[in-house]
Amino acid sequence: MFRTLLTRFVLPVILGSVVVSFFALPYIDRLLAEWFRSDLELRAQLVMQSIDEPVAELIARKDQTRLRAYLTKITADQRLLAVQVCRPDGTLITQTERMPPSLTCDALPEMGREHQIVQLAQGSVQLADFDSAAKGVPFRVRMVHDLSFVDRRQRSARDFLLTFLGIGAVLLALLVVMAAWWQLRRWVDVLVGDIRGLRFRDDARSPLSSMPVLSQVRRVLREVEASQRLEIDFRENWTPQALQKVVQDYLRAPQVMVVSNREPYIHQFDASHETVVQVPASGMVTALEPVVRACAGTWIAHGSGAADREAVDRNDHVKVPPQAPEYTLRRVWLTPQQEQGYYYGFSNEGLWPLCHLAYVRPAFRDQDWRAYGEVNARFAQVVAQEAVNADPVVLIQDFHLALLPRLIRARVPRATIALFWHIPWPNAETFGVCPWKRELLLHLLDADILGFHTLYHCQNFLATVDRFVECQIDHEQMTVTLRGHVCRVAAYPISIEWPPRWLKQQADVAVARAKVRREFQIGEGVAIGLGVERWDFTKGIVERFHALEALFDQHPKLIGRVTLLQVAAPSRSQLPAYQALQDQTLAEAARINHKFARQDWKPVVLIGEHQDPQRVFELYRAADFCLVNSLHDGMNLVAKEFVAARDDEDGVLILSTFAGASRELIEALLVNPFDVSETAAAIEMALSMQREERRERMRLMRRTVKENNVYRWAGRLLMDLARVRQRQALSAPAGRLNMRRAS
Ligand code: G6P
Repeated sequence: MFRTLLTRFVLPVILGSVVVSFFALPYIDRLLAEWFRSDLELRAQLVMQSIDEPVAELIARKDQTRLRAYLTKITADQRLLAVQVCRPDGTLITQTERMPPSLTCDALPEMGREHQIVQLAQGSVQLADFDSAAKGVPFRVRMVHDLSFVDRRQRSARDFLLTFLGIGAVLLALLVVMAAWWQLRRWVDVLVGDIRGLRFRDDARSPLSSMPVLSQVRRVLREVEASQRLEIDFRENWTPQALQKVVQDYLRAPQVMVVSNREPYIHQFDASHETVVQVPASGMVTALEPVVRACAGTWIAHGSGAADREAVDRNDHVKVPPQAPEYTLRRVWLTPQQEQGYYYGFSNEGLWPLCHLAYVRPAFRDQDWRAYGEVNARFAQVVAQEAVNADPVVLIQDFHLALLPRLIRARVPRATIALFWHIPWPNAETFGVCPWKRELLLHLLDADILGFHTLYHCQNFLATVDRFVECQIDHEQMTVTLRGHVCRVAAYPISIEWPPRWLKQQADVAVARAKVRREFQIGEGVAIGLGVERWDFTKGIVERFHALEALFDQHPKLIGRVTLLQVAAPSRSQLPAYQALQDQTLAEAARINHKFARQDWKPVVLIGEHQDPQRVFELYRAADFCLVNSLHDGMNLVAKEFVAARDDEDGVLILSTFAGASRELIEALLVNPFDVSETAAAIEMALSMQREERRERMRLMRRTVKENNVYRWAGRLLMDLARVRQRQALSAPAGRLNMRRAS
């Protein structure tokens, strides 16, 4: 910085002063010489006027002695060297003592050249010659002025000018440096504010908008951002390759880490103690797995499978997918007590019911909260261990790891951190019942980006922060600034890969339908309704049964014409709420079957076991309609998978308005899952819908899922993270500047 100021400001000012001196000095010398000469001329004239008559009188009296004494008195003026009085014929009348001998009367110049400068051995002199005929006596007077004082005066004037210019140049340089420094600081402050605050707008009312350099920099930054956004928004064909390009060209991170509780592949023992690999029923896994494969990243997750420890190397790493490894899974081990408090307790009995409006009361226990903190700290430790450089990109998944952003930031300060919240975020009042709400919010806000499925969840989150944390919220930009750190809150509707890899080995729809009918003894003329989910109270499984019952009650002619195939993958089964749900589901299925079943038909077929994705896709293809009537759901990827599975452009989707997916799949039959009659009416409509309408709706939904696939989801998130990294890089030198100023 000092060198820049020296070379850009101080040196030019000094050089300028030298150039000015070079040209100005000779001119000033000349000016002074002229000035002194005319001054002497004037003085000579004045002297002549005053001595004219006395000299004429003394000549007339021929009193040479007095004349000489008189003239000597006049030469007392130090600049007047000598005076000489001559006759017009060139003979001397008298002269003073210091008259140079070479200046004789006969060498008097012609009139008109009387003020000449003569160079003598003792120096230069200026002559002033006057002809006079005062009192009738003709004579000539020559005054000789010593010019040596002119040299002295010129020297002092030059010295004075040089000193003046030197001091002036130094003062000017200092002034310029101070002004430049002050201006630079203002620009840096504004730009750092812009960069940190994620805004590059020119506020017309701001005096800063008139600064040309600043507004140019802001414009360039704005344009770069806009073009990057356009590229993301208008790229139609989001593929793994496109995502890889985003990682390489924009993110420029040598490492992308995904951190979640649930692992993408679970090693289990089967009945004969052989190791089998299971893909868990988790929307989060469904979405993230293709992304991590595309980025060749590292996935850190809880090793929850019975055979998990046998599959890892000594660093707890295992390459996955098992058949064709593409990335590394790092397993984190938890004690049964930790799992109990962190996973079952705080995550699934506290946060899960807190965030889902399914009217199951959340339970908050101190020991669960402690275990939650302990496990989050363990995950942060593993992230730090796995980091291969100082600024990895860390993508944290879901509510199990809400404390991680701050805990990771403490260990890897330069990490770029995003946390995606896969479940809904409730309103501030609801969230307010959590005893550790402030701790959760403060830890979350250390992320660079917090992602939710919908804008509505983002707004709920901002309102919650507004209620419980003292910070700065920019509702327009959706940013929260806390102790100088900016956290961006944004909606990224999650999705699935397109085309789903499970589709590749699927048989034709007709074949799948025939197979499923055979397997579950569903007759030819019976429509197949499908429900697929974890056995969770948020999914509305019992409400679905009630809707079916209402359908048969209201339309008895449909009895025997439709069967609901319900896959419920057991989940979190040791929790009372889940056990109660399983009991209730079994009881209701039995009751309804008992109420309507006929010899060769029953209304509900309940498959209470985990099904692998291949099998689930087969069921999607066999179904006439799919029921996704969740009571509350962040997104719900079953809805999107069903659409993706139907390359025959058939099948009807019935979708809850309380699932995030309903914001995108608007061609589905949308229902309020709490309104059993409305759901029954939707089933009736699905059964009677014409092929053409089914195709039209499915076609539109397929286009939506294809375009808004999970690569686009990840692409948008990673592009926003890339922007965060660019801003961090941009604000780093400015930050250093600020620190230097502070010190
Ligand atoms: C939801 C959560 C996921 C979770 C999944 C399955 O979709 O958002 O994070 O993995 O449920 O739940 P589980 O408790 O079995 O992991």
